[in-house]
Amino acid sequence: MRGGNHPRKAKTALTTLSPAHPEARFVPQTFPIASARAAFPAVTGAEPFIFFDNAAGAQVPQVAIDEVNRHLLGHNVQRGGRYGKSQEVDRVVDRARARIADFLNSDDPREVCLGMNATSFIRLVSLAVGQTLGAGRDEIILTDLDHEANIATWLALEPMGAKFRWWKMREDGVLHVEDLAELLTPRTRIVACNVASNALGSITDVAGAAKLAHAAGAEIFLDAVHYAPHARVDVQAWDCDYLVCSGYKIFAPHMGFLWGKFAALSALPTFREDFIPNEPPHKIEAGTFIYENVAAMSVVIDHLEALGGELGAVNSPKARIAAAMDGIAAYEQTLAARMLEGLKAAGAVIYGLSDPARMSERLPTFAFNLPGVAPSEVSTKAAAAGIGIRDGHMYAPRLMKRLGLEMNSGAVRASICHYNTPEEVDRFAAFLLTLRG
Ligand SMILES: Cc1ncc(COP(=O)(O)O)c(C=O)c1O
Repeated sequence: MRGGNHPRKAKTALTTLSPAHPEARFVPQTFPIASARAAFPAVTGAEPFIFFDNAAGAQVPQVAIDEVNRHLLGHNVQRGGRYGKSQEVDRVVDRARARIADFLNSDDPREVCLGMNATSFIRLVSLAVGQTLGAGRDEIILTDLDHEANIATWLALEPMGAKFRWWKMREDGVLHVEDLAELLTPRTRIVACNVASNALGSITDVAGAAKLAHAAGAEIFLDAVHYAPHARVDVQAWDCDYLVCSGYKIFAPHMGFLWGKFAALSALPTFREDFIPNEPPHKIEAGTFIYENVAAMSVVIDHLEALGGELGAVNSPKARIAAAMDGIAAYEQTLAARMLEGLKAAGAVIYGLSDPARMSERLPTFAFNLPGVAPSEVSTKAAAAGIGIRDGHMYAPRLMKRLGLEMNSGAVRASICHYNTPEEVDRFAAFLLTLRG
């Protein structure tokens, strides 16, 4: 018989008050885990295998697979032609911009730029920002909690005259905005930080950070790659200037997107061929991207919207998407609390927030070590037990150093998302107990 998991409706009595969203939110009483999980055939088809490496890339729902097929069979041609199939690709691209704008709570699809991944977008924006340094604004604030993609891309601006200041996490594994206040000066050009850490799962108060950055006359660039699959993104509430996501972490195939305020994107000196209009989004989108994957991203957002409808939100497409993400966040908090108990029972050293009262300040992404067991051994034995987790530096070398961990061994990371179940968390916890000496 296949599968050891029997997902059922999980009670989600928790609220989703988090540093990224301090205001009260729509909170459903139950999360339909059985149907939410059943939408992902790679997950149910692999049972009893447990996908706990979601921070590295998520599985896709059947609708996304169908959409890739539909695209490739029906109109796998270049856009911009005068024939129907090409015009259909134009529609697919326009629709993706509109759907992603809904997902981010932007009112202008021209603010959504499509591409291959987050790193290439961060590099593109950093190169453009590099050309605007000077005129008394040459300082860039970076964090020691970010993925290296949102650090090295900015450090590469040193030859262009950039100076760097470091917003360091505190001992609790969280970036505190009070510390940012002390780093901002009239010379600050931009603050680059995450919405949530891909290694520790801590959530950053990005609205608070944006307010401070703007008060100092600076811009803020948000890396929402790790946060976006787990909770509501709201570029208006956060009042950020730029925000980047990887579609392949948000249940779509490989693609990425960048959002920027229209005025901010308009002002960026980006590379483009002469005949490309100097306007967003085209001035940001050099070359061709993967249309079938962009099409799939749209239907993933449709899928999330339908989940929000199931959870009871009816007002508007944006309200339904927001309700889905709030429902996912609330459900995942229950999994995070359960995971925390399991890790503690196994005697794990947990990096970052481990106080059950602070679960709303983190995502269900846990970096930890088991005393006396190498991280690689934990992952290798987990693999043998049918559990996919990861060990290493999580592309966060500066963070590893802060934590006193070696780059080549690092920590173990188990990262949960909304198709995972309480039963899977329990199986993982039981597995960890078998490693105790
Ligand atoms: C927080 C964070 N930022 C950036 C990236 C890089 O994303 P991409 O692979 O789309 O370039 C990742 C990838 O894991 C990530 O987790």
